[in-house]
Amino acid sequence: MSALQMWKCLKVLFLVLLCLNSSASESKGESGSVDWKKTKIWGPGLKAEFVVPARYFFVQLIDNEGNNFTKSAGERPFDVHLKNQDGGRVRVYLRVLDRTDGMYLVNYRIYETLADLEISLTKDNIHIGDSPFQLKGFVAHENCNCPEPRLSTWYKHMSCPASYRQIKNDLAIFKDVDLESTARETIQRFNISTAHSLSRYKIINNKIYRKTYGEHVGFKMFSDSILLSLTRKVVLPDIELFINLGDWPLEKKTVADNPVPIFSWCGSDTSRDIVMPTYDLTEASLELLG
Ligand SMILES: *[C@@H]1O[C@H](CO)[C@@H](O)[C@H](O)[C@H]1NC(C)=O
Ligand SMILES: *[C@@H]1O[C@H](CO)[C@@H](O)[C@H](O)[C@H]1NC(C)=O
Repeated sequence: MSALQMWKCLKVLFLVLLCLNSSASESKGESGSVDWKKTKIWGPGLKAEFVVPARYFFVQLIDNEGNNFTKSAGERPFDVHLKNQDGGRVRVYLRVLDRTDGMYLVNYRIYETLADLEISLTKDNIHIGDSPFQLKGFVAHENCNCPEPRLSTWYKHMSCPASYRQIKNDLAIFKDVDLESTARETIQRFNISTAHSLSRYKIINNKIYRKTYGEHVGFKMFSDSILLSLTRKVVLPDIELFINLGDWPLEKKTVADNPVPIFSWCGSDTSRDIVMPTYDLTEASLELLG
């Protein structure tokens, strides 16, 4: 055997050893120490009555010692299946997000309203954690016009907190609002076609009526879409409000000066606008997996 041949053999041997070594470490590696039976699976997306455009739930992997698994076990180390009552396939867009810390976020969007839904999570065809999950009854999809008649029931289904500090604070200065005179003043002060963009909404019998003020009111599509989505899910009480479609807060009057209530996507310490989630957030919730 020449020196060259010898070198070639050693090289092959070395490569084979490397391969063996890496496959050995793979098979007993990270995902191998997950105890799939102990997987914790929870979240609002496992309840039929939690109706959002893209539903979601969480998966926390647990290791052999019963502790949280804190690394990625791969991009999608388990399978998720959705099945309806009669076993038929469900039209769904599903995404598993690896947080790379042992927790996974499962998002899914259904494209039809279902009666009963079964969600199962499996590893090598064996159920993990408390899988399968039964979502009993009516599972509404985003465009189902199926409003829950009682607001309080809807709050409960959505696990809404009793209040949000910021909204409470912003609203606190508006105790008695005379809708007619407030609307007159708001329109008179902010109906400047190029400087302001305002939408006046009235929700009556869960139908939405809207009039805009100003030239650049294209962003009404965002306030329209979140209100429309809400009225498909719950019967809203009759409401009237102004939404500022612009990029800066409008009402600079002091509290003593009787400011008018205007809902805005922005605020500041020196303005009285009532701040609500911005259109990019509401739109992301509405369009996720859409
Ligand atoms: C384990 O993970 C869950 C969910 O991610 C978390 O709530 C809990 O605090 C974690 N437990 C420990 C001991 O870190
Ligand atoms: C608002 O301004 C426009 C343009 O200046 C005007 O045509 C309209 O009559 C005003 N509307 C009200 C309610 O003041």
